[in-house]
Amino acid sequence: MPLYEGYTSDKHVIIFDIGTAYTKCGVAGEMCPRCIVPSQLKDEKTGKVRKLWEYNTEDELFENLKDFLFHLYFRHLLINPKDRRMVVCESLLCPASFRETLARVLFKHFEVGSVMFAPCQLTALLTLGTSTGLVMDVGYNETLVVPVYEGIPVLKAIQSLPVAGKAIHERAKQILLTEGKVKTGSIEKPVSEQRDCLTEDVLEDIKVRCCFTTKFDRAKKIHRVTMFGENESNLPTPPPSVQYPLDGNSMLHVDGKVREHACEVMFEQDNEQQSIATLILDAIVQSPIDMRKELSRNIVIIGGTSMLPGFLHRIQLELQSLIQEPRYVNFLAIKKFRFHQPPAKANYTAWLGGSMFGALDTLASKSVSRDQYKETGQLSDWCTLSQLK
Ligand SMILES: Nc1ncnc2c1ncn2[C@@H]1O[C@H](COP(=O)(O)OP(=O)(O)OP(=O)(O)O)[C@@H](O)[C@H]1O
Ligand SMILES: [Mg+2]
Repeated sequence: MPLYEGYTSDKHVIIFDIGTAYTKCGVAGEMCPRCIVPSQLKDEKTGKVRKLWEYNTEDELFENLKDFLFHLYFRHLLINPKDRRMVVCESLLCPASFRETLARVLFKHFEVGSVMFAPCQLTALLTLGTSTGLVMDVGYNETLVVPVYEGIPVLKAIQSLPVAGKAIHERAKQILLTEGKVKTGSIEKPVSEQRDCLTEDVLEDIKVRCCFTTKFDRAKKIHRVTMFGENESNLPTPPPSVQYPLDGNSMLHVDGKVREHACEVMFEQDNEQQSIATLILDAIVQSPIDMRKELSRNIVIIGGTSMLPGFLHRIQLELQSLIQEPRYVNFLAIKKFRFHQPPAKANYTAWLGGSMFGALDTLASKSVSRDQYKETGQLSDWCTLSQLK
């Protein structure tokens, strides 16, 4: 069902959000993506998998995108892209070479009608009908916090940290390698003797099914042991362990420690005393003073990793605790933080905003058409604010 009455075109607008881990794609005006697929390509002959974002040259990326988008259009969406409008939700920090190559593939190879590049932090706010907010995206590679005021990102206050889903996988792997056991029949072996069983897919599955973000006070006890060298006997009693089936024969023993400790990588402060929670406060501190209160009352959290059980509650407690620390208490007169609840799951909130945008009448005026692109070979760029002629 279309969301807006202003939806007039007889050809559906296609919406993409090409994340580093998952690509969400679907049709404008719909409430959820038609498919969410890993951002990777599988060679049909050899069965080898290569990641879309791992490329050395732009030509390689061009080939990757060509194959990947072909798959999306003709295997998943079953829509011919020729002459259609596209909306691409991209991160504000997306490399220019990626968006230029993507535009080249869309216009030259698939001959789409027009493309609009929309920053996903802005589209996420659109789903809430607001234009001011502090958007935190906890995706796969990194966590990005962008303050947006009246629809304009406050660029100087953007904060990021390379800690998100991938870092949790690495931490889980590290703990499993030291403590995990694999049982095949009646023989039990340490995981370190069967390293191959810990593939990226297995680690992700273990994370999503077994791991959680623990309570604030338990976490503090854990940090005292893992980061400050306190005796292990001070660790809180771990949650029950889980037997994870690796295949028909073997079982991986996932200890309670893996389940509880893996996600702590996001909340441990590094050498610069940064964690994903401090990013929010740093972004507020670096925003102009008259925006701060409003930003702290309009926090929007998106990205698949924020769907971990306990995540949202934990981040609120982390903020309440950090705000008492001298480095913030002297700069911020904020007592309360308020969080929005977007009308979609966190991993496709940005996509939903793109879907709403794609259904608006104003889409044509905000897009780059194929003719414009052919004439100038350029895309308008938000950071230079240069417009196409
Ligand atoms: N229910 C869930 N519980 C925990 N983690 C989840 C859940 N669903 C997805 N994830 C994790 O979220 C991550 C992907 O999130 P998302 O789709 O927002 O990332 P992305 O857009 O591909 O990455 P990025 O925005 O960093 O480019 C993956 O690491 C995935 O394991
Ligand atoms: Mg993303």
